[in-house]
Amino acid sequence: MILAIDQGTTGTTCFVVDGEGELIGRGYREFAQHFPQPGWVEHDAAEIWAVTREVALEACDDAGVDTADLRAIGITNQRETICVWDPATGEPLHRAIVWQDRRTAGICDRLREQGHEPLIRERTGLVLDPYFSGTKIAWLLEHAPELRERALRGTAVFGTIDSWLLFQLTGEHVTDPSNASRTMLYRLDTGTWDEELCELLGVPPRALPEIRPSIGGFGTVRPGVLGDARCPVAGVAGDQQAALYGQACLDRGEGKNTYGTGSFVLVNTGDQVPAQREGLLRTVAWRIGDRTMFAYEASVFATGAAVQWLRDGLRIIDSAGETEPMAASLSSNDGVYLVPAFAGLGSPHWDPYARGTVTGLTRGSTREHLARATLESIAYQTLDAVRAMEAAAHEPLRVLKADGGATANRWLMQFQADMLGVPVVVPAIHETTALGAAYMAGVGVGAWNQRQVTRTWRQAAAYEPAMSRDHAETLHAGWRDAVSRSLRQVL
Ligand code: G3P
Repeated sequence: MILAIDQGTTGTTCFVVDGEGELIGRGYREFAQHFPQPGWVEHDAAEIWAVTREVALEACDDAGVDTADLRAIGITNQRETICVWDPATGEPLHRAIVWQDRRTAGICDRLREQGHEPLIRERTGLVLDPYFSGTKIAWLLEHAPELRERALRGTAVFGTIDSWLLFQLTGEHVTDPSNASRTMLYRLDTGTWDEELCELLGVPPRALPEIRPSIGGFGTVRPGVLGDARCPVAGVAGDQQAALYGQACLDRGEGKNTYGTGSFVLVNTGDQVPAQREGLLRTVAWRIGDRTMFAYEASVFATGAAVQWLRDGLRIIDSAGETEPMAASLSSNDGVYLVPAFAGLGSPHWDPYARGTVTGLTRGSTREHLARATLESIAYQTLDAVRAMEAAAHEPLRVLKADGGATANRWLMQFQADMLGVPVVVPAIHETTALGAAYMAGVGVGAWNQRQVTRTWRQAAAYEPAMSRDHAETLHAGWRDAVSRSLRQVL
């Protein structure tokens, strides 16, 4: 029995998977989002741990499994979000600053003006954007002076969510290369923390976790922390990399898109650091033994988050599922577009100052129009991400492997296939991220081998494009116009 923990941006999902790779128990719970200022997003790390623990126990209960019988745990997580805690007590010393948070746009501008952008791009594979953890740590060190002192003395440590959960579970301060590669402090070519970048951002290296291969030993669960569990944590990866693994994209050229809070298109580029490409990130997919696999990534910040905004912000729906009949009830978008640039825009624009924009409203516009515009925006953003990927690969996409919660929305999946002009295929288990973490942990304790993982992938649905290319082009032109109005709104 393997327990997979998927600690996402808005909630934690846990799965129990048996020896055959079958999902036999699950649990899910959302937690609070804090927006203290426009453009800021924070999480309470203590709440994340409490919710994660409850959901893990719930999943074991659901599976009828005694925690003592767990053979291994796999962890996958929202990436870039940074936690800081006291290693003696495990108490958080500040709210976690979430990947969507834009407060460090000014620090990025400063680094750009000082001419550091080419070095950062070359070493880390990332673009200079507030998305990544490095400038968030720099902000904490600048704004909470006691943290700098403590970090130097070793009484405050930093880590992404994987490290935070690992610390709570095993007491070790560790991470894996897929998460480390999202911090802007990690060198792709050496696979280590970059001392020069740490110095540039003022981050004491001793406050960072030890980097271990994604599959293997991350410590053993401490007594009493998770029922009677005493098993190892044997697999750790950032959620998009785990989804790549769970979609069995183990070889060069294989890719996927995951629809979560945001959407992330990743394509496996093999075991050599890939060349820089405009608009794309280069990232670690995973490290197994001493072999590191890499990926190109196109990151879209708000897709599921836009549907959540309809529910919690505008309150025009009660649940995400309602958007499907609402969108289908209209024969056209009637020229209404929503650009959900709530956290700026990622690939291919990389504009932290873009903000959410609705265009084309008339007195006849309804909540159905907003629901449809929201679903359409998910597909347009994914289309733009895929086009950036195709330009990098010099090869057109033949099929999109999709996963994540929104793949349950048939209207969206059909519209996505129509816009891309290629089929969209959805696997039997939508939550490929958690499955990927389970597979990694299973491989980590020798329960499965890599190729068994590939064989368990099963297709559940395929959506064939049905729209004329002309019509798709017209819709896309309307979208591009709306995007141009959303750019650089915050001065
Ligand atoms: O990089 C952010 C990403 O890891 C968030 O994933 O699943 O919470 O949308 P998710």
